[in-house]
Amino acid sequence: MSLVKLSEIVMEFEIGSFFKKSRLRAVDRVSIDIERGEVYGLVGESGSGKSTLGRVSLRLYRPTSGSVIFNGIDITNVPERHLRKLRRRMQLIPQDPYSSVNPFYTIEEALVEPLLTHNSIDRKEAVEEAKKILEEVGLVPAEEYLSRRPQQLSGGQLQRVAIARAMILKPDYIVADEPTSNLDASIRASIVKLISDFQKRLNQALLFISHDIALVSLLAQRIGVMYLGQLVEEGNSRNIVKDPLHPYTKALLSAIPLAEELKIEKVVLKGEIGDPSNPPKGCRLHPRCPYAMQLCKNKEPPVISIENRKIKCWLYTEK
Ligand SMILES: Nc1ncnc2c1ncn2[C@@H]1O[C@H](COP(=O)(O)OP(=O)(O)OP(=O)(O)O)[C@@H](O)[C@H]1O
Ligand SMILES: [Mg+2]
Repeated sequence: MSLVKLSEIVMEFEIGSFFKKSRLRAVDRVSIDIERGEVYGLVGESGSGKSTLGRVSLRLYRPTSGSVIFNGIDITNVPERHLRKLRRRMQLIPQDPYSSVNPFYTIEEALVEPLLTHNSIDRKEAVEEAKKILEEVGLVPAEEYLSRRPQQLSGGQLQRVAIARAMILKPDYIVADEPTSNLDASIRASIVKLISDFQKRLNQALLFISHDIALVSLLAQRIGVMYLGQLVEEGNSRNIVKDPLHPYTKALLSAIPLAEELKIEKVVLKGEIGDPSNPPKGCRLHPRCPYAMQLCKNKEPPVISIENRKIKCWLYTEK
C-alpha cells in the first residue's frame, strides 16, 4: 500500500482583483503515489505546479477536487484540528529556510517547540533531543547553536536547522521543495546528502521537488515530470533518463550539462512556458513542441500507461 496516494488532484486559486476575479488551475488532474522508503522526484519548469502539488499532499492546501490518502486514511476534507495528529508524521523542508524558521525564536525554541507540541516529554528532555539532532545535522558543538537566532546563521546552517526541525519528530513523509536552490553551489551536495541520509535511516517516503532532472535522477527511484499543472510523464528514474519518451522530458534532459557525453537526443522547445491562467488548448505543450501535429492543437492527450511508464502525449497514444 502506498503511504501517500494522490488521485486526480485539481488545485485552483482565485486570482485577479475584486472586480475581475478568475481562477488559475495550478494543478490539473494529477495522480501520483509514493511508497514508504521511496524517493519520488518531481521536476518541471517554474510555474508547473510542483510546490502546489507538494502542499496538497501535506494537506497544507485542501484540493479543489481529487483525493489525498495518507497511510490508507482519506484526509482530503479532514478539518485542520483533526489533522494535528497526522501533522507530526508529514513535514515540509522548504526552499527558503529563512521563511521556515521563526526569526524571533532561538534555535533551541525552534527545535523544542514541535517536541513539546506533539510529544509528552518535559523541556529538559526536549532540549537533549534538540542537541542530539543538531549534532546529526552537523551543527557542532550543539550548545553553541541552541542560543543563536536565524539571522546569526548562514543560509546553509539555517537549512540544516530547518531539516533538523522537520526530522525531529521522525516523520514518515517528507516533502523537500527545492531545498538547495537558495544555497551556494558548494554546499548543495552536502544538504542533499543530509536529507537523503535521514530518508534512508527513517525509511521515509520523500517527495523531492527540483528543477534539476540530473540531480533528481541520482536520488529518486521514480520521477514525475510536470508541465503547466499536468503530469506529462512518470517512470522509473533509470528508464526516464535512458529513454525519455515525452518531448518535454527530452527537452529537460537535453538541457543538462552532460547531455552531449550521455548522447541524449537534443530537443529544443520554442518560446517560454505558457500562462497557467490561460493554458493552450489541446496538448499544453503544442505551441513549443517540435513534434506537434494537428491533433495536438485540437485535442488533449489522455494519460496512458505503458509498462511502468505513464505518458501524456499523442505520439504514443492511439488516436
Ligand atoms: N497561493 C496562490 N495563489 C495564486 N496563484 C498561485 C498560488 N500558488 C501558486 N500559484 C500559481 O500556480 C502556478 C503553479 O505554481 P507553483 O508554485 O506550484 O509552481 P512550481 O512548479 O513550484 O514553480 P517554481 O519552480 O517556480 O517553484 C503558478 O502560476 C503560480 O503563480
Ligand atoms: Mg515551487
